[in-house]
Amino acid sequence: MTRRATWSRYRESIGDRSELFAAIADLRPVEEALYPGSYVDLSPSTAIASVTYVDTDVRAARFFADTDLVEQELAGRTRPGAGTRVRFLAADYTGPLDVPQHGMDLLVSLYAGPVAQQTRTYLRPGGWLLANTSHGDASLAALDPAWTLVGVVDHRDGHYRLSTDRLDAHLVPRRPELADPDRIRATGRGVAYTRQAFAYLFQLG
Ligand SMILES: C[S@@+](CC[C@H](N)C(=O)[O-])C[C@H]1O[C@@H](n2cnc3c(N)ncnc32)[C@H](O)[C@@H]1O
Repeated sequence: MTRRATWSRYRESIGDRSELFAAIADLRPVEEALYPGSYVDLSPSTAIASVTYVDTDVRAARFFADTDLVEQELAGRTRPGAGTRVRFLAADYTGPLDVPQHGMDLLVSLYAGPVAQQTRTYLRPGGWLLANTSHGDASLAALDPAWTLVGVVDHRDGHYRLSTDRLDAHLVPRRPELADPDRIRATGRGVAYTRQAFAYLFQLG
């Protein structure tokens, strides 16, 4: 029998990103976050009060439907005030979502496709996007004047470090001719940079 998907089991493969979301919430308060393509990565709820998770995978739907299990998995892991609202939408994020327009403080885009392209209207002006380059989302944001880089996340020895210094040393393409939005959209692949990071934090507007 296959074991059901849970955050604790998922952490065995991807690790625990709680430290990352704590570092973001330490920079400034984050009340509401949207995480399209979350699968069962519950880590944002350890640092943020209200998180809306979105995924089409039935295993994610099963996990989040079990509210006792979700509560158990968060027990003893949340910062004060965090994890008070855990909402899951079994939905395709490329379609309309039952989320208020311009309502979110943080949008999370990790390994799940062109999330920011499809869902940025849910982010409030001045809101933050956490994105990596795996499916090109961070690379598209880097080329779009609507976004400003405000932080860089490194992941080393199992620890996340969020830095806001020397940001101009980042997002410098190794091959500038490949830093083209049409190419990134067509291939779904991000740009290789002279300095690699786990993810980037951008501000809208
Ligand atoms: C590789 S997993 C990454 C999960 C998590 N973000 C992480 O970083 O560990 C990608 C997830 O995105 C979901 N996904 C991909 N496209 C989606 C879409 N259009 N709508 C909703 N979920 C989607 C998949 O079902 C899968 O659970």
